[in-house]
Amino acid sequence: MALIEWRESYKVGIRSIDYEHGNLIWVINDLLGKLSKDHTTDDIVQALGEVHALIEAHFALEEKVMRDIRYSSYPAHKKDHDRLLDDLREIMEGVEGGGDFMKTLGETVNAWFTVHFSTFDKEFHSLAHSQR
Ligand SMILES: [Fe+2]
Ligand SMILES: [Fe+2]
Repeated sequence: MALIEWRESYKVGIRSIDYEHGNLIWVINDLLGKLSKDHTTDDIVQALGEVHALIEAHFALEEKVMRDIRYSSYPAHKKDHDRLLDDLREIMEGVEGGGDFMKTLGETVNAWFTVHFSTFDKEFHSLAHSQR
């Protein structure tokens, strides 16, 4: 089973964005799925580092568009992005101390996507799309 499942509730209603979010989930699953059975802590930290970089790049792009259109909810939206990146960093640090990072990561990211995509992203992308 994939670590993160795509859910209908993740849809923001704009095809290109839904595709991007779906792809993000696919790449995260792929990166973590490639960890071999006898992975080392370093392997996990490296895979999580790639996940972090990927998500960060997606956020940076969104935030650039927000600044470009002088989006009024930018601070709150960015704060929510930063919160997930902080959580991911904490999970990376936790790997060193053992524990079931996959479970924590799956729960954290699923919960975050469920809320963020259907609220912050839906609102922002609908507005940005209507201004084109
Ligand atoms: Fe997004
Ligand atoms: Fe966002």
